[in-house]
Parts: sequence; structure tokens; C-alpha cells
Amino acid sequence: MSIDREKQLAAQAAAELVEDGMAVGLGTGSTVAFLLPALAARKLAIRCVATSVHTQRKATELGLEVELADMLDHLDIAIDGADQITPDGWLIKGGGGAHTREKIVAASAARFVVIGDSTKPADVLRPPVPLELLAFGLPATLRELGSAVLRAGWPPSPDGGVIADYTGPVGDPSELAARLSATPGLVGHGLFEPSLTADVLIARAGSVEHRILR
Ligand code: 5RP
Repeated sequence: MSIDREKQLAAQAAAELVEDGMAVGLGTGSTVAFLLPALAARKLAIRCVATSVHTQRKATELGLEVELADMLDHLDIAIDGADQITPDGWLIKGGGGAHTREKIVAASAARFVVIGDSTKPADVLRPPVPLELLAFGLPATLRELGSAVLRAGWPPSPDGGVIADYTGPVGDPSELAARLSATPGLVGHGLFEPSLTADVLIARAGSVEHRILR
């Protein structure tokens, strides 16, 4: 079975978790690209918030009602892909550079659902860890981070941030997350702690494994 078909199966399973009347956070990426039509096909009365301009455009084209994130302080559910998923629920996100918005949306959701294909589970997290940095003082921030590279050719985030990657060892993800969060000039990083995630849906071949974390 192709990886795209696995992404589609995980996305379809996640779309089934959405109920009429919900406020829904929509992630970003190629797995979420399969979620949007699956959700639109259900014809539910839902209000959505998108984590990227691309998702916002696609969702709107499919007839989903997308509101500005400023309008909703609480979401019932948010659904998003990930780059790496460990057995204990740590994630690396931000391959698409949308991790800062994605973390805000995940944290504001009562239920954050992660969807992925069979390439996403990882025994341990490995670099790179996506970063979003303030443009002000960028050389000093990069120096402080030590091992970080700017993503060549990437435009600024919709919020004006510079997209980069931390390339040093991950080691204990909670220690690295604390260190990154404490670095002046760092707006957001792609390490998502397990407490953010409620469900993980991983498609392997023709079936979807549903792990409930909380
Ligand atoms: C974007 C993300 C994506 O969810 C992550 O990169 C997975 O992408 P894909 O579904 O294309 O494999 O974090 O910032």
C-alpha cells in the first residue's frame, strides 16, 4: 500500500471523530491534505481554524467554514500530522514550517489528534527540530542555539518569523524543549510534549492503529 493511501486512511479515521457543532483546528501538511476533503464530505455544521494560509485556502475551497484564530479561544478538537511520533507521545512537528501556529492550535483544543502513515513512528526523536525565530537579532540567536541552520529559500512565516532547524542531538526531549524555549529570540520549536496529544492514529498497510494517550 502506498504511503499516500496510508495518510488518507489515517485522515479519514480522524475525520470520523469530528461531530456536528464542533470548533475544529486544522493542521498543515500532506496528511492534512487528505483530512480536508474527508471532513468536507461529512457536511457537518462546524467552525474551523487553520494553521496555515495553504490549509485555510484549501479548506475554504472545499466549503469548510474557516474563521480567524482570533475568534475562537477554545477548540473541541484539532487534527494534524507529525514528522516523528514516539511510543510515549513526543512529537516533532514543523516539516511544513507551521509549528508555532500548530502548537497554539493543539494547546487550545480539548482533544488534539495526530495522524500519520507508517513512516512516522520513531523509537527516539532525531534532529532536525524545526524552529521559528525572530528576525531581530538573528545572528545572536543562532549563536546561542549553537547547532541551527536557516531553512534555505523558505519565506518568513505568516507571522514574520524566520524558519530554521536545530540540528544538534535531541537527547532528552524535555530538556531540549526547555532549553529551546528559554533561548531569547526563539518564537517556537517543533517539539510537542506528550501532554498535548490525546489520540494518535497511525495507518499501516490497510488498517489504522488508534492509540489513546489521555
Ligand atoms: C507542518 C507539520 C506537518 O504536520 C508535518 O510536517 C507532517 O507533514 P506531512 O503530513 O506532510 O508528512 O508539522 O508544519
